[in-house]
Amino acid sequence: MAKRKLERYSDLSQLDNVIELEDYNPDTVSSNRGRWCERVFGNNNPLVLELACGKGDYSLGLAERYPDKNFIGVDIKGDRLWRGAVTARDQNLLNVRFLRIYIDYITNYFAPEEVDEIWITFPDPYLGTKKIRKRLTSPEFLDRYRQVLKSGAFVHLKTDSPELFAYTKEVIAEQNLQVLDLVEDVHGESHQVSDLDILTYYENMHLEDDRTIRYVRFKP
Ligand SMILES: C[S@@+](CC[C@H](N)C(=O)[O-])C[C@H]1O[C@@H](n2cnc3c(N)ncnc32)[C@H](O)[C@@H]1O
Repeated sequence: MAKRKLERYSDLSQLDNVIELEDYNPDTVSSNRGRWCERVFGNNNPLVLELACGKGDYSLGLAERYPDKNFIGVDIKGDRLWRGAVTARDQNLLNVRFLRIYIDYITNYFAPEEVDEIWITFPDPYLGTKKIRKRLTSPEFLDRYRQVLKSGAFVHLKTDSPELFAYTKEVIAEQNLQVLDLVEDVHGESHQVSDLDILTYYENMHLEDDRTIRYVRFKP
């Protein structure tokens, strides 16, 4: 691993706003499960997750816009989370935290009905049929989200991948899920959806490559 990455991984444990993965064991249950808002944020505000958050651009952007909500950015890559956590600390954003875990184990970390909203921002598309189950909008992952979301809560997906977007629409149709907003070209067509102006690190790179950004908000 590169030296800078290693340093960031070791710095991660020094940051108060980062919770590191407790165990790879799928049987480990987080002590915060069911009590994130009360224990970690000291309030009862709505809880929003950003999955595959990388450097946490949505967590940071939304936390600034919505001080009455709590945000947790979730990713496995510690050096990326480090960037978001340092920015949150420097900007004194007290309503954002970062959680370093595999999203696959999300139900060990959050209790039923604990989460109010999920954003999935530029997840890896995992092209190729052998990797379909790793896609963060696969039926397996949607089942996990259902187990932690409040009833009627939404999932937002923002992606540059036409394949992942088409796949997600297929899953939505197969499961007969309600779509609330669908934008086929976030930066090229006019729409009324809020918060799509927040740009992520990957999104900026995709825009430089003239890629089309797509968005869907649905009830899983
Ligand atoms: C392409 S990056 C996007 C990062 C960020 N959302 C952005 O737009 O800049 C995808 C991220 O998803 C994370 N990721 C993919 N699958 C994951 C999983 N099962 N559990 C945790 N993180 C995952 C990767 O570590 C990576 O940081």
